[in-house]
Amino acid sequence: MTGETGGGSGPQPGSGGDGGDARRKHGSNTISDVLRLSTEYLAARGSETPRLDAERLLAKALGLERIDLYMALDRPLMPPELDSARALVVRRGAREPLQYVLGEWGFRHLTLNVDPRALIPRPETEVLVERALVLLEGRDAPRVLDVGTGSGAVALAIRDEHPGALVTGFDFSVDALALAAENAARTGLEIDLVRGDLFAGLPPGPWDLIVSNPPYVDASEIPTLQPEVRDWEPHEALTAEGAVAAVARGAVPVMAPGAGIVLEIGIGQAGATAALLGEIGLVEIRVTPDLREIDRIVEGRLA
Ligand SMILES: C[S@@+](CC[C@H](N)C(=O)[O-])C[C@H]1O[C@@H](n2cnc3c(N)ncnc32)[C@H](O)[C@@H]1O
Repeated sequence: MTGETGGGSGPQPGSGGDGGDARRKHGSNTISDVLRLSTEYLAARGSETPRLDAERLLAKALGLERIDLYMALDRPLMPPELDSARALVVRRGAREPLQYVLGEWGFRHLTLNVDPRALIPRPETEVLVERALVLLEGRDAPRVLDVGTGSGAVALAIRDEHPGALVTGFDFSVDALALAAENAARTGLEIDLVRGDLFAGLPPGPWDLIVSNPPYVDASEIPTLQPEVRDWEPHEALTAEGAVAAVARGAVPVMAPGAGIVLEIGIGQAGATAALLGEIGLVEIRVTPDLREIDRIVEGRLA
């Protein structure tokens, strides 16, 4: 099996461990068989969603929607199809994130390219965008800065959902900015992309809104993270000591009067972040929970 690293234990995706070799020879490895074997293979390698992963990977290999698999469970796979499916399942079995194996992922109303050049956009970050859009209500052409833009997800979603917004994505990673540029081209949305170090100061505004999902994981937690995150996502996207405070403090001198700031933060950081926003002179401070009821987004406005 191409790229197999599992030491031969557990079922082999698409090999039909219970006589499947014979079936494959006769071209009778059906969608149903491959889904079952792939699910077992991925479960044995620690995926928390093995069936879902298997369905999405097989759908990708066959160029189908997931629902189409269920309309054709008895359809045999041709050897090239089986090879493509196996290659994807083996990658996922090595704990590469499903999103990177698929190469694209949904965020708000967009489908974006995702790969190890940048963090995978998360569902909680959709709440960051939601709050940003609330703060932009009533403004026709607001100037928006997305600090640590990564794949460009936040910047592009804001531009998509508030088309008058003039959005700039800011990041120090050349790789992330290249991915963000690809996503701008893919979605046909116009944003500016600027390279720089947030610890050295934010681009001069004035900005009407500063939005950021900065690296907020404590470096000591990295070894405890799931292999998908720890071994595949860029560490500079996960951790940078003092980044949340640096974005907040760096924002004030470049914000227009009445401008807003919206920050995504880690578990247990809401109280300190809200206090910091008060300390640096912001008002209307508000904390919003994510979909799991974890306090995740802190916002404020310059008086
Ligand atoms: C948590 S990721 C957010 C990515 C994207 N905005 C999202 O929400 O999916 C943080 C981003 O901050 C960037 N970053 C880290 N340190 C930085 C720095 N000192 N200056 C500018 N950007 C930085 C990383 O490259 C990464 O893209």
